[in-house]
Amino acid sequence: MAPHDPRHNSLVRWIDARLPIFTLLRREYGANPMPRNLNYLWIFGALALFMLVAMIVTGVVLAMQYTPNTALAFDSVEHITRDVNYGWLLRSLHATGASMFFAVIYIHMGRSLYYGSYKSPRELLWMFGVLLFGLLAASAFTGYTLPWGQMSFWGTTVITNLVSVLPGGQSLTHWLWGGFAMGNPTLNRVYALHYLLGFVIVAFVFLHIWTLHVAGSNNPLGIDAKNPKDTLPFHPYFTVKDIFGLALFLLVYAAVVFFYPDYLGHPDNYSPANPLVTPAHIQPEWYFLPFYAILRSVGGVWFLSAKLLGALALAASVLVLFAVPWLDTSHVRSARFRPLYRPAFWLLVADVAVLGLCGAAEPQGWRLVAGKIATTYYFAHFLLLLQLIARFETPLPLPTGISLPQPAPLDGHAIKPDA
Ligand code: HEM
Repeated sequence: MAPHDPRHNSLVRWIDARLPIFTLLRREYGANPMPRNLNYLWIFGALALFMLVAMIVTGVVLAMQYTPNTALAFDSVEHITRDVNYGWLLRSLHATGASMFFAVIYIHMGRSLYYGSYKSPRELLWMFGVLLFGLLAASAFTGYTLPWGQMSFWGTTVITNLVSVLPGGQSLTHWLWGGFAMGNPTLNRVYALHYLLGFVIVAFVFLHIWTLHVAGSNNPLGIDAKNPKDTLPFHPYFTVKDIFGLALFLLVYAAVVFFYPDYLGHPDNYSPANPLVTPAHIQPEWYFLPFYAILRSVGGVWFLSAKLLGALALAASVLVLFAVPWLDTSHVRSARFRPLYRPAFWLLVADVAVLGLCGAAEPQGWRLVAGKIATTYYFAHFLLLLQLIARFETPLPLPTGISLPQPAPLDGHAIKPDA
């Protein structure tokens, strides 16, 4: 046993003999060999884990004061912010936490796309990730409804109305609302789901991490770490890196919570919901804007309404991600060695940014046209470009090992061999 192994302690040994949790933790997190060249983009999974715990803890405490009733919800949130001891802090941590969580997840997804972490043998790991993204979106959407402000009310109206495109349309919407209009039953359902979803996410994170530990982590070179010299134990090398990254992340999170708690919120949501007054411009939170743009960019064709096609495009924009491991047929994982995929990745990032800007603007004039072009490009990237690139690209020569002399890759981040 290593000198710092907790199993030197007799109580730990007693428990471990009956429930080998310490042996498991040591195998999976202590001695677990990790590729030695992981860069700081590999801390974002740990940051996502941190945000998940932070959201559940602050959410459970907020729920002790929140009232899920349309007549009281808005005031109960104001009460938490103004009267409850440190209620402002709890609320700010939770509300701005949603934005921080999405920022972390988007970087985590971007990293996985750039370094080809979705490719064999990590397809299922990626698919659990996409599922987590969908669950996270559902959780953020239901959470935003709870303060029952103007934007909560009208945003939920727009999105729940989308189910009316399904067969049985209007009655399905009424069934979802629990009445002929959004009201108390709707708020109660949304609240119950919001509370539940956090724990469903925990269950899927468990599967996500399980699949990660079967395949092991990918790395910036995208090659398998076969040689023992290619790896370092998770602890202390990567625990320290994760903790340092977390400290930097907490500085940014704290700056938003303490100095700009309302910056990301829409002003209309600081007015109580009013079913008789529609806001001038209904808009979701920033992290949904690209998807909102896709929803609004699709027009009707023939007998298919714009609403139906918009809803289908919105669903397809997430569903297409499940198929990415099979849509990208190149055998090279990392964009560092893929001269055509690399610019295509950055074009996709720019495209999603353009979609975000279009989602924030009125869908008129050139912005509507830009939204349509960006939506077409988004789907073309996954459904067409990935295969074309794989076919015509000549990848750079791959290194044979992580700790061996490296040929200079595209971004110049060559790894020096060990002394
Ligand atoms: C609640 C949300 C999530 C949590 C808590 C989470 C957590 C983690 C953790 C701890 C890791 C290992 C560390 C790392 O590689 O950064 C990881 C890896 C990974 N995650 Fe996630 N994740 C989440 C969502 C997602 C999403 C939305 C995707 C993609 C759609 C995704 C795809 C991946 C992939 C492909 C890896 C393997 C990366 C590699 O080895 O290169 N994850 N995740």
